[in-house]
Amino acid sequence: MCRFSAVQAAASDTSGGHATASEVRSDDSQNLALILETMCGIVGYVGPRPSQDILIAGLARLEYRGYDSAGIAVIDGNGDLGMRKKAGKLSMLRDSLADAPLGDGTTGIGHTRWATHGGPTDVNAHPHLADDDKLAVIHNGIIENFSALREELLASGVEFRSETDTEVAAALLGREYAKSGNLQDAFQNVVNRLEGAFTLLAMHEDHPGLVVGARRNSPLVIGLGEGENFLGSDVAAFVEHTRKALAIGQDQIVSITPSEVTVTDFSGSPVEAEPFDVSWDAAAAEKGGWSSFMAKEVAEQPQAVANTILGRVHDGQVVIPELDGLDELFIGINRVIITACGTASYAALVGKYAIEQWARVATDVELAHEFRYRDPVIGDDTLVISISQSGETMDTLMAVKYARERGARTLSICNTQGATIPRESDAVVYTHAGPEVAVASTKAFSAQITALLLLGLHMGRVRQTLTDDSAVAELADLPDKIASVLEKENDHVAQLAGWMADTRSVLFLGRHVGYPIALEGALKLKEISYIHAEGFAAGELKHGPIALIEPGQPVFVIVPSPRHSALIHSKVVSNIQEIRARGARVIVIAEEGDAAVLPFADEVIHIPLAGPMFEPVLAVVPLQIFAMALATAKGLDVDQPRNLAKSVTVE
Ligand code: M6R
Repeated sequence: MCRFSAVQAAASDTSGGHATASEVRSDDSQNLALILETMCGIVGYVGPRPSQDILIAGLARLEYRGYDSAGIAVIDGNGDLGMRKKAGKLSMLRDSLADAPLGDGTTGIGHTRWATHGGPTDVNAHPHLADDDKLAVIHNGIIENFSALREELLASGVEFRSETDTEVAAALLGREYAKSGNLQDAFQNVVNRLEGAFTLLAMHEDHPGLVVGARRNSPLVIGLGEGENFLGSDVAAFVEHTRKALAIGQDQIVSITPSEVTVTDFSGSPVEAEPFDVSWDAAAAEKGGWSSFMAKEVAEQPQAVANTILGRVHDGQVVIPELDGLDELFIGINRVIITACGTASYAALVGKYAIEQWARVATDVELAHEFRYRDPVIGDDTLVISISQSGETMDTLMAVKYARERGARTLSICNTQGATIPRESDAVVYTHAGPEVAVASTKAFSAQITALLLLGLHMGRVRQTLTDDSAVAELADLPDKIASVLEKENDHVAQLAGWMADTRSVLFLGRHVGYPIALEGALKLKEISYIHAEGFAAGELKHGPIALIEPGQPVFVIVPSPRHSALIHSKVVSNIQEIRARGARVIVIAEEGDAAVLPFADEVIHIPLAGPMFEPVLAVVPLQIFAMALATAKGLDVDQPRNLAKSVTVE
């Protein structure tokens, strides 16, 4: 049975000797060859079972966070620390361990890496060793003062094998440990000297059965087992073993042994970690017979949307229980800003239309990485809504913190329990899409739009601006309508993609809520098929992009239903005629029975009849299938596209 206690470790001030920020920056610019570690997956284990397989299984679930290299370290039955690391995907490490396993040691740490600079090599892979290879360290993030620390260590005779900032932390820890022989004290001293963003795990062969960890602006969660404990970048690392977890706050240190978990702040004062139960089960994070996680996740969209709606509609009205007690806030606000990155920012654009229409409050969408670098007009009458599947996107997290500092109220829409962004927000509405593993976001996007629709309807009810309940009634039908698109259009769209495998550029057009879907369709195609793609507002076409149209240019057009607005529909049909006249190959996504588009379309993909705010969730599905099928036709790995990682935990 696990006991939670907090240890009182000696606080130690080791802050002297830091380089200033500008010194570090100039050092860094002289060291462009140095490898900076950024988004990575981390797992730690202590318990009675051999750790090697547990670590590898955990890394397999975290591989979406980075797949440039992978490595593990294990303390074996004789108390010796063994380590193996390999450049390339996890399979390279697996093969190496199959040839020569690390033994049956029951304490271990593992790492899968995504690097921003420099080549992924065996030597730069984690773990990094110190103290005559008795100490192993893994790390996610960027240690911003590593240059100064490296100089200091070089001057004292330390020799480095790699060019990473992580090895600097390992060497520092080795030096501190040599002073006291106390791993926790040494670790605390070291993390207090580090600047930047980091999750750090360490273990030493003198202390089998102990793994120490710390986090600052980078994720780390604890998994609580029976006679065993886990650490992970997220719960996927250990969900197959336990669904009981503890969230660790910023600037906190954790030690795990098989029977005990202790958490302190960076000065050693005990803190209470927040317990939570993981609602995902291990099977949900497995491929389950699908050719890829992306294929599985596209197919899971009806369920993801249904789960997100579940428990939030009562007596014909949307009531989100997590928002109980916030009525006054919703009534008092004069402005909403939705902030997010990538796909989540396109969901935000749909949310803008819904919130403005139903809750009658001015709503803007801001890319998180732009938001905090200007001087936005926000105050206590502003609600800043952040959207993030992972809940760890650094740009979005920083935007949330910035908004709070400026007095705004913050609400996050997030898919990952225990993640940092919801913990930094005043309120959270979870999407219940289940784990999304493929780098390209699909079911999380549908669930994010659904959550925004729910939020708009909830706010509209509270603000008494919602005049028509038909949208609430329609929510229940949405999962079946998505299922029908999947069923009816999958083969048609996949065939279309097969014909277009040699295409070099694809354009996407949409109006109103079709515009964000055009952007999303283009992003999906770019990121997994490496084909040039652009999304445009259809009305913008004549202001420049129409020059791109030449004979044979494929253009997807998302056509809104004529039942919602004959005017918008007719404008889009005119846009189709304009590009068709210039030779474009037009692929239309339109509602069943829309005869007006037929004379001008080379291909028509049908979606069921739905209310205007619901069409995006249906129209995006064929575009996801198209991108996936085209990437597959090109022989590409749709789950792990080049240069990308699932969760971008650096700015
Ligand atoms: O985890 P988040 O939702 O915060 O991630 C935001 C973006 O990085 C993410 O949506 C990205 O654009 C996807 N790879 C798109 O498929």
